[in-house]
Amino acid sequence: MKELLVRLTGIYGPSGREEAVRQAIRQEIEGFVDEITEDVMGNLIAVKKSSNPDAKKVMLAAHMDQIGLIVTNIDENGFLRFSNVGGVSPFNVLHRRVVFQNGVTGAVSYETELDDMKKLKLDKMYIDIGARSREEAGKHVQIGDAAVYHAPMAQSGDRYFGCAMDDRAGCAVLVETIRSVKESPNELIFVFTVQEEVGLRGAKTSAYTINPDIGISVDVTLTGDTPKSRPMAVNLGDGPAVKVKDASVICHPKVKDLMIQRAEEAGIPYQLEVLEYGGTDSGAIHLSREGVPSGVISIPCRYVHSAHEMVDRNDLENAVKLLTCILEKEIV
Ligand code: CO
Ligand code: ZN
Repeated sequence: MKELLVRLTGIYGPSGREEAVRQAIRQEIEGFVDEITEDVMGNLIAVKKSSNPDAKKVMLAAHMDQIGLIVTNIDENGFLRFSNVGGVSPFNVLHRRVVFQNGVTGAVSYETELDDMKKLKLDKMYIDIGARSREEAGKHVQIGDAAVYHAPMAQSGDRYFGCAMDDRAGCAVLVETIRSVKESPNELIFVFTVQEEVGLRGAKTSAYTINPDIGISVDVTLTGDTPKSRPMAVNLGDGPAVKVKDASVICHPKVKDLMIQRAEEAGIPYQLEVLEYGGTDSGAIHLSREGVPSGVISIPCRYVHSAHEMVDRNDLENAVKLLTCILEKEIV
C-alpha cells in the first residue's frame, strides 16, 4: 500500500489533466480485471465480471484528479497570476512550492502591501517561477497551464502525509480492492473518475453509461480530532467512515446499513460520518437516470486540500477489507 500511495500521490493530475494518473492505475490493475476501457471524458473503467447470471452491477468510484492553480495571466515581470481548479484556499497555497506538468516549479507568494492577512485572496497572489520577464516566463508556462503542490509523501509512524491524498488514497484503496476480491456474485465496475474536484463531472457521465444497480464511492473526508477543530465525529485511525450525509448526497439507507452490517460481521472498525461541507462522486451517481442507491466509504484525512493531507495506514487497510467483504457477498 505504501509504495502504491507514494507512486500515485507523486503524479501530476489536476482536474482535466488526469492522463498520467490514468496510465499508472491502468498498469497497477492490468491482469486483475477482465476488461479496461477509457471513456470520452477520460474516466478509466475496469470490470470484474461474475459467473452469476443474476449479478447486480456495482459501480465503485474514486477520483483521479487533484486540485490545482491555473494560470490566468503573466505580468510584464514574469509573475504568474492564477485562479483555482477546485477548492483552493489562499492560506493553504501561500508559500507552497508548486509544479507544472512540464516540471517547471514555482513559489506561491502574495502582494506584501496587503495590511490584513484575513483579506488574502487568490487574486492578491502569484506564482514566481524565477522568470525576469513575460517573455522568459512564456517560454515555460502558457495561459491555462495548471500547477499542483510539490510535496512528496512522507511517513511518520502509521501516518502518511503529502499532497493529493484526496483522492489518490481512494484510488489506492480501489486498486488494492481489485487485487483482493476473489469471487463475487456481483459484476464489479471500478471507475477511476475525472474532474471530481470541479463538480463530480466524470462520475456523472460514467454512471449514465454503466447504469449501475448500486453505487459506492471512496474518497477522503475531514476529521474533528485536531486542536480546536470544528466538531466532527470522525477521528484519524479509528477506521474507515461510513458516510451518512454530505452536501452532495444523503446515502441510501440500504447501502449505508449494508456497509455497517458487513463491518460488524467482520469485526472491522468503522465510524459514522456526517460531513457538513463538500461532496463526492456518489453525489452524481445517486442522481443518475432514475436514481441509484449509493453510499460512500470515506478515508479520514486531516488538512484536506492542503499540501499535507494526512491519512492513517490502518484506515486504508481496513477500507480495503471492508470493501472486499461488501463486494464478495450478495448486494440486495
Ligand atoms: Co477534494
Ligand atoms: Zn476528493
